[in-house]
Amino acid sequence: QPLVLKTIDEVRNWRLTCLFDNKSVGFVPTMGALHNGHISLVNNSLNSNDRTIVSIFVNPSQFAPTEDLDSYPKTFDQDLEILSKLKSSYNNLITRVDAIFFPSVNEIYPSGIPLDVEKQQGAFVSVKGLSEQLEGKTRPNFFRGVSTVITKFFNIITPTNVYFGQKDIQQVLVIKKLIKDLIYPINLNVVPIQRDPETNLALSSRNLYFDAKSRNFASIVYKSLNLIENLYKENNIKDCGILKEKFSRFLKPHGDSELLKIDYISIADKENLMELNEIDSNTGAIISCAIYIKNNQDGKFIRLIDNIIV
Ligand code: PAJ
Repeated sequence: QPLVLKTIDEVRNWRLTCLFDNKSVGFVPTMGALHNGHISLVNNSLNSNDRTIVSIFVNPSQFAPTEDLDSYPKTFDQDLEILSKLKSSYNNLITRVDAIFFPSVNEIYPSGIPLDVEKQQGAFVSVKGLSEQLEGKTRPNFFRGVSTVITKFFNIITPTNVYFGQKDIQQVLVIKKLIKDLIYPINLNVVPIQRDPETNLALSSRNLYFDAKSRNFASIVYKSLNLIENLYKENNIKDCGILKEKFSRFLKPHGDSELLKIDYISIADKENLMELNEIDSNTGAIISCAIYIKNNQDGKFIRLIDNIIV
């Protein structure tokens, strides 16, 4: 069974023993409600580190007051059971999850963290230039929240390696820049998107909101990304205006705002996330999108994100 550490002191003591034993530490930050996407990150850490620590913390500062902080799924017992069963090997030794960091909000935000941004006081971390576009547009303080909590975790855990999923590609770029600019001696590892084998939907706790019919329909998101990838790779179309136009045209027959709404379609630079006019085949691009899909059963729109790197 992994150790369940709730305080910063406990984590620092655990980290000291790793240091004394000269052991590398892999860190996987999560908000819990673990699925195979998260598991893939943990397995990557188990494969390349002596010790692995997973954090489970629903970070209030990355939720807007209008978002679902209170209803975010909390399944700690199940998460613990999943993590207890994982097993891999590194340096010819069996590796398992050694510790779970499961702190209270007070532990991480000693000055408090009111949801209303206007009332928030104290220290925060922002990665400017990468936090405002795409996901940042609908969620203006989201990446400040992510950057702040990850900085705190880095200061507490001082991992050798950290693991993030390509699923949240903008988050990866933000953290990459954070590590560079704040000079953390931490290796960032990006793990490929894990998909539902039937629909190719990127795994997400949000997929559970769909009934079977809508989930099948949602596979159109990945199909559209694939279409663009093929037009670029097979037909050599590099003009981003044309590619985006094809993308939305592919989605259109499916009833416009009836069944789906496009939030954004982006073809952007891999480093600075600026929109490209044309894909340069030497440097490639990140093709990403956010699409609202209507759930058949209750008529609610569910926002999905996905991406392909070419
Ligand atoms: P959470 O949504 O729990 O995701 C934790 C990690 O799992 C992220 O790095 C995410 O990209 C990765 N992940 C989720 N679904 C995946 C999939 N289908 N395939 C591969 N990786 C996947 O992202 C967060 O939490 C938070 O913002 C956090 C970084 C923990 C900061 O609070």
